[in-house]
Amino acid sequence: MTSQTYTFRIQRNMPGQVGTVQSHWQEYKVEAEPNTTILTLLETIKGGQDGTLTFRQSCRSAICGSCAINIGGRTRLACKTHVGAVAKDGVVEISPQKNQPVLRDLAIDIRPFFSRVHGIKPYLQDGPERAGKVTSTAYDQVNHVTQCIMCGCCYSECTMAEVNPKFIGPAALAKAFRFVSDPREGLKTERLQDLASPNGIWSCTRCTLCVDVCPKEVAPMEAIVKLRTRGLNKGINTSAGAKHALAFHTDIKQTGQLNEFTLMMRTLGIVGSLMETGMAIHLAKKGKIPSPFPHSVTGVDELRRMYESLERSPIDVETKAKEAVPE
Ligand code: SF4
Ligand code: SF4
Ligand code: FES
Repeated sequence: MTSQTYTFRIQRNMPGQVGTVQSHWQEYKVEAEPNTTILTLLETIKGGQDGTLTFRQSCRSAICGSCAINIGGRTRLACKTHVGAVAKDGVVEISPQKNQPVLRDLAIDIRPFFSRVHGIKPYLQDGPERAGKVTSTAYDQVNHVTQCIMCGCCYSECTMAEVNPKFIGPAALAKAFRFVSDPREGLKTERLQDLASPNGIWSCTRCTLCVDVCPKEVAPMEAIVKLRTRGLNKGINTSAGAKHALAFHTDIKQTGQLNEFTLMMRTLGIVGSLMETGMAIHLAKKGKIPSPFPHSVTGVDELRRMYESLERSPIDVETKAKEAVPE
């Protein structure tokens, strides 16, 4: 493999006045083969060109999660990313994780991220729902979630965390799924009730970015969707998100299409809808208010048969048909 010169364009961040960070971009040239990792090249720069460059690293083996940074527009593990895979015309742009406070250069303050994880009580609790036996299928359900290395890539890319810093976030919710699914957990229902509170499972926009960027295939959004389903199955359905999902379900099953005119009322209730009057006026001015009498859809019977078929034999995305072999 032939080596070439790469330009590293790195965001340098310095603590400024209290609570502020001053940023600028700095370029470095490095000679490397395409399969050299970004972490190796950051070390090359730090060792040979600029000892002040600050970044986190530890295991160098995609295990500890500490080297997660924004590389080429996506949050990735620097120790797992080859320069040839992310360079564009020989240039690699690098900045810290998003949605997290920056301490210096590429190092972020990891405390807010971990406080969310601690917030979901990441330990088994005694209680009435506790079962003694753990089957291999039950183990397999949660095994992929336990692969999480707490790197924060998902939180950095999360579109909800970007606009709502109170959102629990994908990593913490995936960990919560691990405890809700564990037969040894005694307070599953209480957990689901907590998770259905504001800033919890119903705040996720299902943008899928956390699934895309996770280096360990934890698929946090899938865990969030399963948590929603489990909550609804237990009758935990008073949040706006749960009502919205149920309204969708009812409309599609009954008529084959959404009744958008009444959807907001069924989601937010009368008071909540009145608070959105400004938005409704804005939409009306643009001719965007949907008709209260949507046209009828052909083939609804077939759709209902599909629903009934699924209700008789649900596609079980949580357990596998065969006994799972623990990895
Ligand atoms: S799917 Fe949900 S949790 Fe995942 S990144 Fe998008 S908003 Fe965040
Ligand atoms: S879920 Fe994936 S991306 Fe998120 S912290 Fe865990 S390992 Fe990292
Ligand atoms: S240095 Fe540990 S995951 Fe990259």
